[in-house]
Amino acid sequence: MNVSDSVQPLCVEYLTKRFRQGQHWVEALRDVSLTIERGTFTAIMGASGSGKSTLMHLMAGLTSPDAGQVIVDGQNISKLSDGDLTRFRRQKIGLVFQAFNLIPTLTAEDNITLPLFASGYSGEIREKLDDLLDRLGIAERRKHRPDALSGGEQQRVAIARALITDPSIVLADEPTGSLDSATGEETCRILKELCTEQNRTIVVVTHEPSVAVWAERIIVLKDGRLLDEFETANFCDPHSLAAHYQDVLRGAAPAGTEVAQ
Ligand SMILES: Nc1ncnc2c1ncn2[C@@H]1O[C@H](COP(=O)(O)OP(=O)(O)OP(=O)(O)O)[C@@H](O)[C@H]1O
Ligand SMILES: [Mg+2]
Repeated sequence: MNVSDSVQPLCVEYLTKRFRQGQHWVEALRDVSLTIERGTFTAIMGASGSGKSTLMHLMAGLTSPDAGQVIVDGQNISKLSDGDLTRFRRQKIGLVFQAFNLIPTLTAEDNITLPLFASGYSGEIREKLDDLLDRLGIAERRKHRPDALSGGEQQRVAIARALITDPSIVLADEPTGSLDSATGEETCRILKELCTEQNRTIVVVTHEPSVAVWAERIIVLKDGRLLDEFETANFCDPHSLAAHYQDVLRGAAPAGTEVAQ
């Protein structure tokens, strides 16, 4: 199949990204290709430094590759001008980060609506905002600033902000990394619902098997390369998934295996 012609929401083809570190070049990503299907929940796993965030930043068009391409809804994003890319990203992609990245001087609702106004939108947003605040269980907290919100509430504000432009793809880099396990699980449940109830495409970077088990498919990176991909259907709990993941990292699992041990 020629993935360039595909209408899959997210296709990555032969992506390579290098960074200069002093006298040396680090190859953060090497020749990575993958396709993510619409309405699916995918987790990207790998050790620290394996290239997870680099891959996510490239998929979001936040950085450009040294080789290869990223195709979002059939559009090769490296062919877009900076302005078009910014508009395209706002329209198609919602981003969620570990550190929430909320603006401390703005209330929860002003943080959420910021991307809309930043894109020049001046229409009515009340209904959409109320709906998001209700759905994410933060309606009571809408007038509070981030420092008056718990970590879980801040992450829900960040998720609402990612959703205000109604993107079909949500990319989240370690979204539960700053949360306790109960709050992290709540964040996973919200992300899963975005997929199952709203048919959005969700990609989460995580170290944690307890997060990855919410996904349908795991992509494993090692030293910037795509090491393996597997379905989670046969791993009903984080422990069995973690054991299989460790086998994959050690090269002890057959590549592409979909069967639980
Ligand atoms: N802006 C940058 N400048 C220089 N080197 C970078 C830059 N960003 C990433 N790297 C390097 O690229 C490699 C991959 O980094 P990346 O942040 O993608 O890893 P990661 O899998 O997200 O790690 P972590 O789990 O710690 O977040 C690392 O060796 C890192 O040091
Ligand atoms: Mg990272």
